Order: sequence, then structure tokens, then C-alpha cells
Amino acid sequence: MSETVGVDIEELRELIRQTRAHVRRQQLLGVERLYVAWPEHPGKPPEPSSTLAQVRQTLGECTRCKLHTGRKTIVFGVGNPQAWLVFVGEAPGADEDQQGEPFVGRAGQLLTRILEAMKLTREQVYICNIIKCRPPANRNPEPDEIAACEPFLVAQLQAIKPKLICALGTFAAQALLRTKEPISKLRGRFHDYHGIPVLPTFHPAYLLRNPHEKKTVWEDMKRLMREYEQLSNTEPLASAPEFS
Ligand code: URA
Repeated sequence: MSETVGVDIEELRELIRQTRAHVRRQQLLGVERLYVAWPEHPGKPPEPSSTLAQVRQTLGECTRCKLHTGRKTIVFGVGNPQAWLVFVGEAPGADEDQQGEPFVGRAGQLLTRILEAMKLTREQVYICNIIKCRPPANRNPEPDEIAACEPFLVAQLQAIKPKLICALGTFAAQALLRTKEPISKLRGRFHDYHGIPVLPTFHPAYLLRNPHEKKTVWEDMKRLMREYEQLSNTEPLASAPEFS
């Protein structure tokens, strides 16, 4: 057999021949030992017990999927590394790509107002996305991009250990829950993600286009707060008015 699938055997033979010749030359020059520095494996996944900082370090200047070619900044996530509540969105947009922070554009400002209505700040919760690099022209994330990024989202959540997750919009909900069900069916009730209750709701960008659905999202946020109060046995977090 002269060829194996995916490997050019002649190229491999030539590489081995050149390596042998190089080592032989070094021996003749009196070199007794060669040191080989292995580059960090580009696909190396984060360790399960990593801290958030270690997850970020393992991610590095990621080139694991094609989105790295068009991004300006990796949008890792922001907020409290021990947050009880994590919001997971879809993907960075233009503003997020510029600033390196999730949800800072118009949809992000609405998310901040939702948090304020819940009597929470961005610093108290943790905010991230299914994928960490902006897709070109804000197109939908593709399956290979979600797959490449997912180990890092899982590791972030393992590090934070939130009591609750709120999935913002179709992509976040479908990617986290591995389902094709529409957000309209998924929202408003709790699902399970690696043992953490997930409440899907409409994406803030959808609310900007459909402001009449703000009431629905506020109902979902109240559900989230009630669940947290039960889980943590604390006083109600908010008896707040709706957001606008
Ligand atoms: N939309 C998202 O889903 N995530 C962001 O970070 C910004 C907008």
C-alpha cells in the first residue's frame, strides 16, 4: 500500500529523509542532544477543574474555527466569576467585537435595563455567548463554530458554577439544549444543562424589534428570580416594575 487516506506518503517519506539527514549532520558536528519544543496544541481543551482565568489562558488567541480570520477581539465573557446567574447569548456583534465585551450594543443596553429591573448589575451576573468571535456580517453561527467553542463555554460554566442559566434567544437555547425546537416553545420553563437549570427567553435584539414581547420576557425573569429565591432560600430579589 503506497498511500493512506489524508496522508501523502511520498511527502512523509521525504520529511523523514530530511529529518534523518539533519540529525546526521548535527551528529557529525558533535551535537549529542537535540531539544524539541512542542507548540501548544491549538485544539487543546480546557481542564475540567480550571478557573475562569485558566480557561481564558487555554483559549489563547484561538484559531480553532474559521471565525478567527474575521474577528477583531475574542469576546470571552464578563461579570462575576462566582455569579449565581449566567446569561448566555448568541455571538458577538460589531460593537462587542470592537470592545471585547458581550452585550454592549443596543441589544446589550436593553439587557442591562432588564438586569436593572431585576435589581441586578452586570457585575453581579456573568454574561457570555455560545461563540466568542463575531460571525461575518452577523450571520448565524455554524455548527462547526459552535462545536469548536462549546468546550470553553462548558469550562466557563464549570468554573463559575451558577445556580441558574438564562439562554437568550433561539441560538443559545438550541445550542445549549441540543434541540431544534423554536424559542417560542422552549421559553418560559426550565430545562437541564449539565445539571444546571436553564431558562430560555427571547433575545433582547428580538425585543427591540418586537417590544410587545417585553412583558413575556419580564414574566420569564420573574420566574428566574423565584427559582433563585427557592434555590438559595433568600429574600425576594426584586419586586420591581417591568423594564422599558
Ligand atoms: N447579541 C448576542 O447574542 N451577544 C452579544 O454579545 C451581543 C449581541
